Amino acid sequence: MKIYRAKDYKDMSRKAANIISAQIIMKPNCVLGLATGSTPIGAYEQLVEWYKKGDLDFSEVTSVNLDEYKGLPRDNDQSYYYFMNEHLFSKVNIDKNRTYLPDGTEPDSKKACDAYNEIIKSVGGVDLQLLGLGHNGHIGFNEPSDTFAKETHCVQLTETTIEANKRFFASIDDVPKEAYTMGIQTIMQAKKVLVVVSGADKAEIVNKAFRGEVTPQVPASILQMHNDVIIVADEAALSKLDI
Ligand code: F6R
Repeated sequence: MKIYRAKDYKDMSRKAANIISAQIIMKPNCVLGLATGSTPIGAYEQLVEWYKKGDLDFSEVTSVNLDEYKGLPRDNDQSYYYFMNEHLFSKVNIDKNRTYLPDGTEPDSKKACDAYNEIIKSVGGVDLQLLGLGHNGHIGFNEPSDTFAKETHCVQLTETTIEANKRFFASIDDVPKEAYTMGIQTIMQAKKVLVVVSGADKAEIVNKAFRGEVTPQVPASILQMHNDVIIVADEAALSKLDI
């Protein structure tokens, strides 16, 4: 596990974008596992900037996103489908037919999850998985639990996560209560994992996840067992990290 210390959010975003762009340059037809949330937005902005300058080409890239709310139509501005279009897909030359997210509009959870597992298999797995870190240690929407979930599944979001996400909705009642998410096993099967973390409010969970016990109660802690993980975090997020 390598930990790169960034000065601030901007520096973190640039370092993360550098790693993603190196992946695309080294393997133009790579499979990127992508994340939503506020942390990766700066990295996506940086990638768009480099694309516009002619330094990056997404034409052969395939992407699979970590998760999607269940029950939100794709044109809802809080769906992760909408987010990815807004921040990346509509701004670079990625082939939209090769950008995948779980189908939040599919009410049958088993059908939605089986279909997504098939997609991940059919694209040959993930080369580089980008992750954010939840305050409770969740990755994707894999919430603290008694076991590590394997493949794509439907989750009931915890109160903490609903509370953290309510800032994006008109009221807490509008926050979806369920989501489809890639499982921990699928995330662990990615060849390389890049975690981005920013802000003092994440300092405690960063230490717990990457220096504490490996336990499904802190889902991100499993990343300690992956052989190629890069954490790019700003100083505030690393401020409570035990050496
Ligand atoms: C998003 C996702 C979540 C977020 C996490 C951190 O696709 O899977 O696990 O990465 O909730 O969110 P932010 O970056 O908003 O703090």
